[in-house]
Formats: sequence, structure tokens, C-alpha cells
Amino acid sequence: MRYRSRFHVAVKTSTNPTKLSDNNLRKVALKEARATSTLEACVYLPHLIGVCLDEPPFKLVIQYGGDITVLKATQERALSRVIPWMKVCREMVEGVKAIHRSNIIHNDLKDDNVLLRKNMAFAPLIIDFGKTQELGATKPQRKPPVGKLQQ
Ligand SMILES: Nc1ncnc2c1ncn2[C@@H]1O[C@H](COP(=O)(O)OP(=O)(O)O)[C@@H](O)[C@H]1O
Ligand SMILES: [Mg+2]
Repeated sequence: MRYRSRFHVAVKTSTNPTKLSDNNLRKVALKEARATSTLEACVYLPHLIGVCLDEPPFKLVIQYGGDITVLKATQERALSRVIPWMKVCREMVEGVKAIHRSNIIHNDLKDDNVLLRKNMAFAPLIIDFGKTQELGATKPQRKPPVGKLQQ
């Protein structure tokens, strides 16, 4: 499916391997949607098109990046040979820099969270913002231990 005839879209549906409650599952989907929509415009980062959070299964509609992950590209020798890896690495770094400029830490950068778009000279698209952390939104500091230390 094409969105405004600009790009194809992918629908990411919430899965629940750890048996979260629907409420928590919704929070996870919302967090990913928020982070994705906060990202600055960058060709290596996906556009969020929409969300369906009314009832489970919750869905995110995002820019489609094809079916070649870095994992797949490194596992298939014929495919790996045609990929301009130095260019891809430089572009991935540009993508990560854009994430950080958006005050977000990805927290789950790995080979199956980066897609390589064949029709764009294998330009990467960094996906899966479900484990992100917003910079500045740090967890509360641990309280100092109470009581004397035993020696
Ligand atoms: N925008 C997308 N375009 C194409 N494929 C995608 C897209 N988003 C996810 N996928 C595919 O689905 C897989 C799982 O998506 P991901 O967002 O990483 O979910 P999870 O949180 O389960 O790891 C990816 O490794 C990729 O193969
Ligand atoms: Mg993933």
C-alpha cells in the first residue's frame, strides 16, 4: 500500500510474548509511536504514518523499508557481495546521529533492526523504536542506602 504515493507502508502489530496486560502493551506501542514521531526528518529513519490504539491488537503504521535486514544481508553471501558496506556504515552512523539529535537513545540497535533498501542503493532504514529512551527523561535516582555499612 502506498501512502500519499510517496512510500509504501508496513503495519507493525503488537505481539505479546511476555504476556503483558493490554494496558501495558498499549503503553509500549504508544512509547514506540511517540519516539518514532519525535525523530527529526532523516532519510535513514522511518516516518510514522499512524497508530491504531483503540483496542488490541495495537498497530503502528510506518514507512516500509523492504525485506532485507542487515542480518539477512550478512547471512546471504551473494547478497552481501553486492552491498556497498562502507557507504551503508556511514549512512547508519548518520541515522544514529539524527536519532541522538532528536534527544532519543535507540537502545536496541542490531542487525535485524536495520533494513537495507535495494531500490535506494541499499540505504539503511533504522527501525524498532520500542526500547528507546528520551534523553532528559532519566529514571529517578536510587535512594542512598539507609543504615550503617557493616565492616
Ligand atoms: N518498516 C518496516 N518495513 C519493513 N519491514 C519491517 C518494518 N518494521 C519491521 N519490519 C520487519 O519486522 C521485523 C520485526 O520488527 P521490529 O520493529 O524489529 O519488531 P520487534 O519489536 O518484534 O523486534 C523486522 O526485523 C523487519 O524484518
Ligand atoms: Mg526488532
